[in-house]
Amino acid sequence: MLNIAINKTTTPKEKPTGALGFGKNFTDHMFIMNYTKGIGWHNPRIEPYANLSLSPASMVFHYGQEMFEGLKGYKNDQGESFLFRPEMNARRSNTTCERMCIPTIPEEDYVQAVRELVRVESDWIPTEKGTSLYIRPFIIGTEPYLGVDVSKEFLFIIIMSPSGAYYANGLAPVDIWIEDDYVRAVKGGMGFAKTGGNYASSLAAQLKAHDEGYAQVLWLDGVERKYIEEVGAMNIFFKIDGTIVTPHLSGSILPGITRDSVITLCKSWGMPVEERPISIDELLEAQKNGTLEEVFGTGTAAVISPVGKLRYKDDVMTIGTGEIGTFSQKVYDTLTGIQLGTEDDKFGWRTQV
Ligand code: PLP
Ligand code: COI
Repeated sequence: MLNIAINKTTTPKEKPTGALGFGKNFTDHMFIMNYTKGIGWHNPRIEPYANLSLSPASMVFHYGQEMFEGLKGYKNDQGESFLFRPEMNARRSNTTCERMCIPTIPEEDYVQAVRELVRVESDWIPTEKGTSLYIRPFIIGTEPYLGVDVSKEFLFIIIMSPSGAYYANGLAPVDIWIEDDYVRAVKGGMGFAKTGGNYASSLAAQLKAHDEGYAQVLWLDGVERKYIEEVGAMNIFFKIDGTIVTPHLSGSILPGITRDSVITLCKSWGMPVEERPISIDELLEAQKNGTLEEVFGTGTAAVISPVGKLRYKDDVMTIGTGEIGTFSQKVYDTLTGIQLGTEDDKFGWRTQV
């Protein structure tokens, strides 16, 4: 249990008006906790949101020892605030920390820090349809040292951003570029971890996709460039001949919390679900014989994002009618209903703040 000192701002900001977009506005406060080797995590506090002052030699700037998470807060019509499965983020955060040689944080302390910050900022949770409070916990190595080594000092920080849809066109289907040259991760690397380096390495392909008119990249495996992995900011699901198919957790993709929730929902509806390798050839064949019924991505920021088009080399696959499919819509409605409190929370995924 953390003893969190709270220092409130005397100059609260105006809340943004109009379309929020994603990750552009920040709330009035942030959570900070220090780590020092030999002392451990200490000095947990909530402070006014402000710039950081760090040595230019801080190790994170040079060798990228950092990690981050993403989760969301929601408010219901009665004004009560909720988080969606925050203990899963705490657990995944520690998995990432272990891979990145960053000290872990007890799950209950992690969730407590998120809850207390959301409680302080509860009037920042937007309530317009399709909006929520995006919560971004992250840890950076701050020791000033230029040798390649594990930092002896870290900061754990949580910032929050009232946000709308991740993609500019909301729930409209996104077009996705299947990358056959660059790769994101390999087994034994850090693809399963949520760390900045994975995203830095994705940018060149993302620019290439954007230049071709595609919103995101779908990665293939790093060895054979044959098996589907995941999208830039989401996991991927296919409905093939009535079965829900998604790549298994191979070690090189992120174990998405939305992915886990969607699999649980589909199974509860009696849908056949397969977590297994899916080759690009299987996908092209399913498209050719008309059994590739729907494709959607899953993620905290992206929620459920229907895919309208997939391009692989010279093949452009238009999925269904190019509009959101009925099954994708059902998954979206159920998941967001549970998150917002308008659907029965039968799996106990909501945590009141
Ligand atoms: N894959 C990647 C690369 C991501 O960045 C994300 C987003 O967090 C996901 C998958 C989906 O994970 P989650 O559902 O936990 O947000
Ligand atoms: C999230 O969905 O929380 C993510 O971290 C995606 C992010 C890269 C925008």
